Amino acid sequence: MDESHILIIGANGQLGKALQTKYPRAIITDHSELDITDWKTIESYDWSKVDVILNAAAFTNVDGAETTEGRVAAWKTNGVAVGHLSKVATLHDLTLVHISSDYVFDGTQDNHSEDEELSPLGVYGQTKAAGDIAASITAKHYILRSTWIIGEGANFVRTMIGLAARDISPKVVNDQVGRLTFTDTIVETISVLLEKQPAFGVYNVTNDGEPASWADITRTIFKELGRSDLSVTDTTTEEYFASKPHVAPRPKQSSMNLEKIKAVGAVLRDWRDDLHAYIEAEKAQAKE
Ligand SMILES: NC(=O)c1ccc[n+]([C@@H]2O[C@H](COP(=O)([O-])OP(=O)(O)OC[C@H]3O[C@@H](n4cnc5c(N)ncnc54)[C@H](OP(=O)(O)O)[C@@H]3O)[C@@H](O)[C@H]2O)c1
Repeated sequence: MDESHILIIGANGQLGKALQTKYPRAIITDHSELDITDWKTIESYDWSKVDVILNAAAFTNVDGAETTEGRVAAWKTNGVAVGHLSKVATLHDLTLVHISSDYVFDGTQDNHSEDEELSPLGVYGQTKAAGDIAASITAKHYILRSTWIIGEGANFVRTMIGLAARDISPKVVNDQVGRLTFTDTIVETISVLLEKQPAFGVYNVTNDGEPASWADITRTIFKELGRSDLSVTDTTTEEYFASKPHVAPRPKQSSMNLEKIKAVGAVLRDWRDDLHAYIEAEKAQAKE
């Protein structure tokens, strides 16, 4: 695969940044350079140099998608725009790699497999499900369903590190269960897919290891930080969000079945190992 024929869309997001590191010779575009919601921009783009589209762009503000403006923006970016990319992929015979989410499911099943029926709860999940349908229409597509992404940017681990720095012992929900996914896991898996070219379709991609609740993940983060003096109080999603407006419903069970992607040869590390490395890197950066 000639890396210079890869187009990274949404390059300044968490995943986009990790993709840039993996593919420094790729064509890089951020939101201001290529707005995928604008069909005229997409239609007139010079696709002659592109073989593979890596779409890391999305409207990811899950609660924001429940507002009047957010609902429109989420549908445009996560639904309509993926239709644009699917259309140009078909017109120019490109491979479309698109990132999906556990939010396309209602979380009632224990271990989501790739062929589970779509059942999104909130607006974000509904728009991501629409994006999956749109991406699946072009022949050469890989739809990667991931969960709880951690990379360069605002994310849960950084929020908890921030709380620890302020000596805060938080209340954290214990009724949503899943696995953290570090951006390198997705990036390395994309590279395996592009190299091995297994059948096109949907693949679950998260870190491996025993799934845990957000509360237990927070305990692991505090332990890694050497802050076992801080306590984590379990709460429920319902209780936690009781007084907050525009809260999206969240799937309770986000654990993905990983057998299909492992059979392709992807190496999925335990999320606890990657968390350890991530926190060590954050500590080192804080010292600089
Ligand atoms: N974060 C998670 O926990 C999680 C979990 C499962 C799946 N996912 C999926 O994983 C993918 C990557 O997530 P992430 O956490 O890396 O997201 P992110 O950090 O929020 O980055 C999204 C990027 O998309 C860009 N973008 C938004 N609208 C755009 C548009 N119309 N045209 C071009 N670019 C646009 C954003 O640019 P601006 O900021 O300039 O608008 C931003 O750089 C997304 O598909 C997301 O749905 C995320």
